[in-house]
Amino acid sequence: MTEPIWVNMPAKAYPIFVGYDLLAQPNLFQSHLHKAVCVVSHPEIAASYFPLLEQTLQKAGARKITSLLLPAGDAHKTLAFAEKIWSFLSNLHYHRDTTLIALGGGMIGDLVGYSGACYMRGLDVIQCPTSLLAQVDAAIGGKTAVNLQNSKNLIGLFHQPRMVLSDLNTLQTLPNREFIAGLAELIKYGVILDAALFEWLETHIVEILARKPQALERAVVWASQIKADIVAKDEKDQNLRAVLNFGHTIAHAIESIYHYEKYLHGEAVAMGMIIAMQLSLALGLISANLLDRLIALLTKAGLPIFLPDGITLEAILAKIQLDKKHSQGQIRWVLVEALGQAQLRENVPLPMIYDVLKASGASM
Ligand SMILES: NC(=O)c1ccc[n+]([C@@H]2O[C@H](COP(=O)([O-])OP(=O)(O)OC[C@H]3O[C@@H](n4cnc5c(N)ncnc54)[C@H](O)[C@@H]3O)[C@@H](O)[C@H]2O)c1
Ligand SMILES: [Zn+2]
Repeated sequence: MTEPIWVNMPAKAYPIFVGYDLLAQPNLFQSHLHKAVCVVSHPEIAASYFPLLEQTLQKAGARKITSLLLPAGDAHKTLAFAEKIWSFLSNLHYHRDTTLIALGGGMIGDLVGYSGACYMRGLDVIQCPTSLLAQVDAAIGGKTAVNLQNSKNLIGLFHQPRMVLSDLNTLQTLPNREFIAGLAELIKYGVILDAALFEWLETHIVEILARKPQALERAVVWASQIKADIVAKDEKDQNLRAVLNFGHTIAHAIESIYHYEKYLHGEAVAMGMIIAMQLSLALGLISANLLDRLIALLTKAGLPIFLPDGITLEAILAKIQLDKKHSQGQIRWVLVEALGQAQLRENVPLPMIYDVLKASGASM
């Protein structure tokens, strides 16, 4: 049997399984499953994977299995769609002894996690992430949310899943652009938390891009272990988890300026990591060599490294002032002090931020 990675939280430790053909293994589900199960997914993902999952759930002992298919896209990660899930569950008389399964990317994971946390004050949720981003990041850690109008993830709560099952077979149908965007978060872990991961990515990026089974498995296992460890130490995102926002200050600004349409999250994170690294260099924390290595790795991965053409300093600064992660008017930056080591900093001089943004392509 595949050995799990554990998220070791007091009283609610849960396993993460990473590997191939996991959706076909009833034994992985057995001890985490109620007899009543509802799987929430998107039509195109369900077409590929729900029939197999349904069979497996039957073999694992589930007796009432339904699926609810919702449209893809973050525009649907809303209270209205949470309500659709609640109505579906209620109309079919699902009670508290129900397992809700999220089969999809981070959007479905967040929406199902949130809906499951609220329905009858909390159902058991199993995350079956099918995008690289969700496997290495979103599905682990119990952060659930929906968007409110233009505010991303404004309404949410912490609700840890009973299990995360990352079947790497599902990545075979993931569109290439989505796959590459997911790589940005993996590279991020290397930069801020694990020099060995960064070095390994430098030497294996071609295999990962080709989705070679062994390399892909190693990458997802490694990243899941990192996320599991950090979540276990800081469940409610009070201190340690803050470093995971490396590259995100600028990323959130870029995503928002382009109305979450032009850039995928990972693409914006890539640009944001370069800015944060340039600030780290300007503050004398790192050498230029480290910045060059990050640029080289992101470029090989096919991720953007320059700010979008035509983006203005004013627009970026207006957005970062709004970002919820700054405290008392100060922008909180996650900076790098050595490969695999990050620090939080609030007093980065504004002229320095201007210079770095201008040098990266922002116009006045
Ligand atoms: N909870 C957290 O800690 C956390 C962390 C990071 C991101 N997020 C959230 O995750 C979401 C982004 O996740 P995402 O990048 O997975 O996006 P997503 O869920 O929107 O999926 C991206 C696209 O890929 C498709 N897709 C997913 N898996 C597929 C597969 N195996 N085959 C074919 N198509 C597939 C989806 O249908 C969708 O069109 C955002 O809502 C973000 O806020 C949450
Ligand atoms: Zn992110």
